[in-house]
Amino acid sequence: MNKYKRTLVTTALPYANGPVHIGHLAGVYIPADIYTRYLRLKGEDVIMIGGSDEHGVPITIKAKAEGVTPQDIVDRYHKIIKDSMEELGISFDIYSRTTTPLHSETASEFFRHLYDKGEFVEKTSMQLYDEKAGQFLADRYVTGECPHCHNPHAYGDQCEKCGTSLNATDLINPHSAITGNVPVLRETKHWYLPLDKWEKALSHWILDEHKEWKTNVYGQCKSWIDLGLQPRAVSRDLDWGVPVPVEGAEGKVLYVWFDAPIGYISNTKELLPDTWEKYWKDPESRVINFIGKDNIVFHCIVFPAMLMAYGDGYQLPDNVPANEFLNLEGDKISTSRNWAVWLHEYLRDFEGKQDVLRYVLTANAPETKDNDFTWADFQQRNNSELVAILGNFVNRALVLTHKYFGGVVPAAGELTETEKNVYTRLAEIKKQLSDNLDTFHFREALKEAMNIARLGNQYLQETEPWKTVKTGDMARVATIMHTVLQLCGNIAIAFEPFTPFMSDKLASLLNMEPMTWAQLGSDDIVSAGTEISQPELLFEKIEDDTIQAQLDRLARIKEENKVKAWRPEPVQAPTDFDTFMKLDIRVGTVTECERVPKADKLLRFSIDDGTGEPRTIVSGIARYYDPADLVGKQVCFIANFPPRRLKGVDSQGMILSAENADGSLVVVGPTGPVAPGAQVK
Ligand code: 2FM
Ligand code: ZN
Repeated sequence: MNKYKRTLVTTALPYANGPVHIGHLAGVYIPADIYTRYLRLKGEDVIMIGGSDEHGVPITIKAKAEGVTPQDIVDRYHKIIKDSMEELGISFDIYSRTTTPLHSETASEFFRHLYDKGEFVEKTSMQLYDEKAGQFLADRYVTGECPHCHNPHAYGDQCEKCGTSLNATDLINPHSAITGNVPVLRETKHWYLPLDKWEKALSHWILDEHKEWKTNVYGQCKSWIDLGLQPRAVSRDLDWGVPVPVEGAEGKVLYVWFDAPIGYISNTKELLPDTWEKYWKDPESRVINFIGKDNIVFHCIVFPAMLMAYGDGYQLPDNVPANEFLNLEGDKISTSRNWAVWLHEYLRDFEGKQDVLRYVLTANAPETKDNDFTWADFQQRNNSELVAILGNFVNRALVLTHKYFGGVVPAAGELTETEKNVYTRLAEIKKQLSDNLDTFHFREALKEAMNIARLGNQYLQETEPWKTVKTGDMARVATIMHTVLQLCGNIAIAFEPFTPFMSDKLASLLNMEPMTWAQLGSDDIVSAGTEISQPELLFEKIEDDTIQAQLDRLARIKEENKVKAWRPEPVQAPTDFDTFMKLDIRVGTVTECERVPKADKLLRFSIDDGTGEPRTIVSGIARYYDPADLVGKQVCFIANFPPRRLKGVDSQGMILSAENADGSLVVVGPTGPVAPGAQVK
């Protein structure tokens, strides 16, 4: 038991402008769930809070693009997110949302309290305003030329080409993304939280008092503090969000990053209307924020400053175990580019395999650095670890118990050194496993849990009960099988935080009592005389074609993205008419067209060029045409290139074609009949 009486586990509220993907799961929800389940097994008082973040500009942009309301968007994605996380076994005590009246009230009261205490600084600034739309433009609503790399399609908050963070007012030739109008600068008033006022307190709290935080979190906080903290605007000119509860603030809402973390408070209130405060304000409670690395500044600097400014006993988080990012097959996960494995799609494609995803994302979690998810690794970990090590051990245990003891757990006789070593090792594993869980090292913790299955396999290999049976020494076989079944019971407990579906199934196969962490390591989890169920496989092999289907999907998305990202090549340096006239471009009629043997890209054309002699031209467009379709068509070709030999054919010229966004080629020809040999000018 730790020194706290109760723990509040919070999970970053995902934006309800898309479903959740494996990056969210590996970064936040799976680690938080592992930790919470572990504390529950230990019998601690713990609640896990979650919910959708339903405000912010991207939601309004998506709504505009689809011609629906922001509420429609968040209703759609909140449901997908909530249902899919539940199906994955993320065991929230509450999963709410920031569009509830209770949240609005709570966030509004929070702002008003700080306002009344004089904790804000009011400032006016010049912001871009769209006169046609009659509204101020959030940075994302402005596009224009990047002042750094001159990409003409940069957004007001960031240039996606060179990655630079921008202010909308930095853009060259800014345009409103709503109307296309050129925006004007207009004065507007906002409320700022003076982070500089809290710098000293924050610095002491993090840098002196929380040296135990993960190095990535501590390091990021230190660099923010070293740079010096600046006041941050906590309101925005927008019509979607919690209205600023101050007279004269019409048309302004709380900045999404002001209201979202208050969602942790409103969700606790919604769950426990009468007792919520003890989770936030009792010094014997602690709050742990599970987040991704992009949220560190808001959870370690901005929200704590808000809580300090509010006072009234609110406690700062005890730990913020932020993870780094997960990539997918070597590329950054991206909602807008659809480069992700979406949870709801995974659950559809891999029915009943929640634990496999939970296992792989924990084994490969980006705890200290960015990591990569690959489908090959997913398959390998399932087949070689879950099936071959864990599933195989448990299956052998169940099958042998039925074979030798009619499915009843035998009593152990005298333990030999071998069994004693097994229990000593088990105690060591429990210690390592618990230590790793206590310190948020979930990958290491999972390895320790897996070591119980490894230990079981080694023990079976060493004791070979199938040989002892032949000697007739059933007392010894009973001791072995008793030990093996205790290891199975220990597996059920140790894996519960990681793979709860498998654990429940195993516990029920073994007819176990409700699991507790205290039992872990015990030699009497499945007591002698207990009847166990018929063996059932815990995991099944994943075949190559299943994995290939996922890889094919990603390949398709990559192609689609290329097409979406396509932009015409910049116009070349100026030239003159005389240079153009040096190229002799003519029209010809295709009389024959066939594939060039042993060259899958090439077609051989016979062209009527008006000279009476057929002209042969070889062209690399075989992948885009059926040769028969081109016969009789008129095409443009360059007539004055020197002949070239291609795959054994002499080519006398070049057929002109245009390239599509996906790289496919389309032959260029006249729009009406032209005499063969006519020049193009
Ligand atoms: O980065 C995000 O997805 C944010 N919606 C996280 C908010 S966490 C909390 F403050 F609510
Ligand atoms: Zn740029």
